[in-house]
Amino acid sequence: MCGIVAVAGDLFAVPVLLEGLKKLEYRGYDSSGLAFLQGDQVIVEKKQGRIVHLEQALFDSGWLDEAMHPVRLGIGHTRWATHGVPSDENAHPHLSSDSRFAVVHNGIIENESELRYFLQKQGFTFRSQTDSEVIAHLIEFYYGKGCTRRDWFDAVQVAMNDLTGSYALAVIAADHPKQLLVARKESPLIIGVGDHWHMAASDIPAVLNQTNRIIILEDGDMACISADSCQIYDVLGQSVSREITLIEWDCQAAEKDGYEHFMIKEIHEEPQAVRQTLSPRIVNGEIILKELQPALPKLQAIESIYLVACGTAYHAGVVGQKLIEHCCRRRAQADLASEFRYSDPLVDDNTLVIVISQSGETLDTLAALRLAKSRGAMVLAIVNVAGSSIAREADYVIHTHAGPEISVASTKAYSTQLAALSLLTLYLADLWKVIDRKTLRIYLDALSQLPEKISAALTAKDQIQRFASEHFNARSVFFMGRYLDYALAMESSLKLKEISYIHSEAYAGGELKHGTIALIEEGTLVICIMTQPHLVDKMISNIREVKTRGAVVLGMLTPACQKANAVCDEVIMLPDIHS
Ligand code: M6R
Repeated sequence: MCGIVAVAGDLFAVPVLLEGLKKLEYRGYDSSGLAFLQGDQVIVEKKQGRIVHLEQALFDSGWLDEAMHPVRLGIGHTRWATHGVPSDENAHPHLSSDSRFAVVHNGIIENESELRYFLQKQGFTFRSQTDSEVIAHLIEFYYGKGCTRRDWFDAVQVAMNDLTGSYALAVIAADHPKQLLVARKESPLIIGVGDHWHMAASDIPAVLNQTNRIIILEDGDMACISADSCQIYDVLGQSVSREITLIEWDCQAAEKDGYEHFMIKEIHEEPQAVRQTLSPRIVNGEIILKELQPALPKLQAIESIYLVACGTAYHAGVVGQKLIEHCCRRRAQADLASEFRYSDPLVDDNTLVIVISQSGETLDTLAALRLAKSRGAMVLAIVNVAGSSIAREADYVIHTHAGPEISVASTKAYSTQLAALSLLTLYLADLWKVIDRKTLRIYLDALSQLPEKISAALTAKDQIQRFASEHFNARSVFFMGRYLDYALAMESSLKLKEISYIHSEAYAGGELKHGTIALIEEGTLVICIMTQPHLVDKMISNIREVKTRGAVVLGMLTPACQKANAVCDEVIMLPDIHS
């Protein structure tokens, strides 16, 4: 994942681009760069390493002095390497051979080798190992061939047609000092609208300091941007108008708000995020899912359900599967989106496919959605980012309203996905008449209390921090739970791996003894999640098994499971929840 930002019009482009890149640093940070116009020259400054290195280079060469260099148009990029090591040369922007075009690109060009071979035969010289550089040369190639209908616009458009893969890109040209072109295919791109200026970026936080008026480009869109105009063309090259959305998050919502990093900030936002998911939808003991009103006749006929997603969102899907089967008594299956289309899934027009995604842009999830639709299934998306590809392509959408999730490690998005899945389960159970009103009310009441319960769970943070500081040297950590707690263990284990680089595995309580217990040795940390009283005795036996091999056991348990205290070395108490 990389981040791109671009600006044209009445703004001092260099600091605005830098600021935008800093907001996108979460998308990648092994190198960064800017390109802008000085007279009829394209100037490129790019540096390996964090954006501060680029900022220093720009400062040293005077580009941050508006009186000396009143730059009004430019493009920027922050990179996370896929083709070619992180280096100054491989950093974006990339120049065409004649240095008249500069390009920034997010995505992967799958036919890069063929294009590179073709261009080299035509005499183009490559300066980097990136796939993205072919785009700059291709544009020069077609521009030289006299693409004149809309001049360089045509050259860029024809070049796009040669690309296989995904891209969001921004291009500037020495011959067109007042315009920049942007295009997207399977990579996100938005446009920020200002007074006598426009910006483009991979994500909304990059422009929020300047404007909250946003256009979300659709797949295949290309736009020609200048100070006072933003002309958008769809995949067929037809001029189209796309609606301006007013974003309600302020800049602060997209920043760290005094927390040390985004992940801890977003963990603390979980109570509020879950409140935003649930409270407008639970009114007077009833579930209000207006989004699903038009779907009611078709929902009645649903026979089976798939929940399809990647990573954390998949783990939310595993919980959803168990909830649906338990409460709705219909067959449900959680599937990895990256496997779904290769497994010939049993999907037909009586199937409901629930796709789950924070970003709404994950390609495997999007591909699963398309496959499900092509087989006649009804597709319901649970998505955080409004206007994203998945939100647009699904038949129905439940937005989680978690606000921007900047941290790559998903936290509040996961909690809100669980909240949305719980609500959806109860909605379906009610619709299918497999739950009585009294039970429904009890569950809804419990769901409404969730934000407070999450806040209460966060009060254990000092104990958690102390425990973590005693175990940060662990080589391997096991998470164990049964049924719903096993699904939580899967997500916990992913989070530990992703954040601490410590090897970890999640096991169902009864499964460890079938081989893997051989890896438990003196001092191995086993974290046991226990929130379901009817399974606590089983978990106590499993804990005894690992303790005989010398494991150190941390129990994370609710008061209703506190009899497990006796077998744990340390316990973190969770709030009392309905189970
Ligand atoms: O945006 P999505 O929810 O579709 O992303 C899917 C996964 O890449 C994502 O959940 C990932 O596993 C988490 N960010 C890891 O913390």
